[in-house]
Amino acid sequence: MVLDNIGLLVTNDPMLDRGLLGVIRDASVVFDGETVVSVGAAGQTADERVDAAGRCVIPGFVDSHTHLVFAGDRADEFAARMAGASYTAGGIGVTTAATRDSSDNELRALALARLSEARRAGITTIEIKSGYGLTVEDEARIVRLAGELTPETTFLGAHLVPAEFAGRADDYVDLVCGPMLAACAPHSRWIDAFCEIGAFDVDQCRAVLRAGRAAGLVGRLHANQLGFGPGVQLAVEEDCASADHCTYLSDDDIGALVSGNTIATFLPAADFSTRQPYADGRRAVGAGVEIALATNCNPGSSYTTSMSFCIALAVRDMHLTIEEAVYAATAGGARALRRDDIGRIAPGRRADLVVLDAPSYSHLVYRPGVPLIKTTFVGGAVAC
Ligand code: NIG
Repeated sequence: MVLDNIGLLVTNDPMLDRGLLGVIRDASVVFDGETVVSVGAAGQTADERVDAAGRCVIPGFVDSHTHLVFAGDRADEFAARMAGASYTAGGIGVTTAATRDSSDNELRALALARLSEARRAGITTIEIKSGYGLTVEDEARIVRLAGELTPETTFLGAHLVPAEFAGRADDYVDLVCGPMLAACAPHSRWIDAFCEIGAFDVDQCRAVLRAGRAAGLVGRLHANQLGFGPGVQLAVEEDCASADHCTYLSDDDIGALVSGNTIATFLPAADFSTRQPYADGRRAVGAGVEIALATNCNPGSSYTTSMSFCIALAVRDMHLTIEEAVYAATAGGARALRRDDIGRIAPGRRADLVVLDAPSYSHLVYRPGVPLIKTTFVGGAVAC
């Protein structure tokens, strides 16, 4: 199939030597099944032709941080924050109670509805974490349900110490590193922990990451969301694929990220919804940190599947260029998931692309809040 008559094509292909986004004007893309076979000038031929009518086409968004499997609603907590209350990790317990009370089928239907919302928002690859079960059985069913939707599943048993372990955090960490990990590892690619005051300290997070690695999982870490702390440097030391949030970065954190193999994943919609200051993306990129942008879709700190909104915030409030933000939401997300088959449009890569109802990717920021995703192709097929 050929997607023809593309006015502006973002490839993210460094081989083209056309700036960060590898942009081609008047282009076409040919795919065979799930794979791109050719990228070139408009007018390439194939058995089937789809006309992009001069629109802009970009790689599908790679959302490397979500918590899509949960039940319940925390709109009241959000409203209280907008009236001046602060965000704390404790709200995770509210969602945990609602999630434990829901059947597999209820959770499956809720997560599926959020996944279709994400597809309509142009997200073609999605990572999904557990973290709202916090018992062996509930965490295992959440990663199993997540695995029905994506191969990018993350075991986040160390999200909050549940009420029944109050005052016994180390006992809970033992459970996470022992029976809970054993039950969740077969359904997970990644292991994560929430390194923050009110959640888990640096030693507990290190223990979780190391136990996960011994079980064959690769680390990622919630780090430096609500204040400065040891999380980012721990993520780099433990060779995590990603340190997520990074709202507060010291010079030492930036130095560690530059010298390590860990992507800094910014989640500006969480800073929006918790009234945190925005991360200084400009400073991080200027220092040479590799970054990603993700939605962090969850019921507490960031209930959105709109990567376009995250891109707009990253440009307006984190002072990234539009090109840096679009790259971070596509190729950056792929780096944060250690994938090289997605995040760019080039021969041999997955045919995951988005047709924008706009002549340029700049409209994602220029027209905030407007639904500009016209068509989402996942593996060469129209998903919506
Ligand atoms: O990434 N920070 C920890 N976990 C989520 C929020 C969870 C919640 O408040 O329910 C996050 O922001």
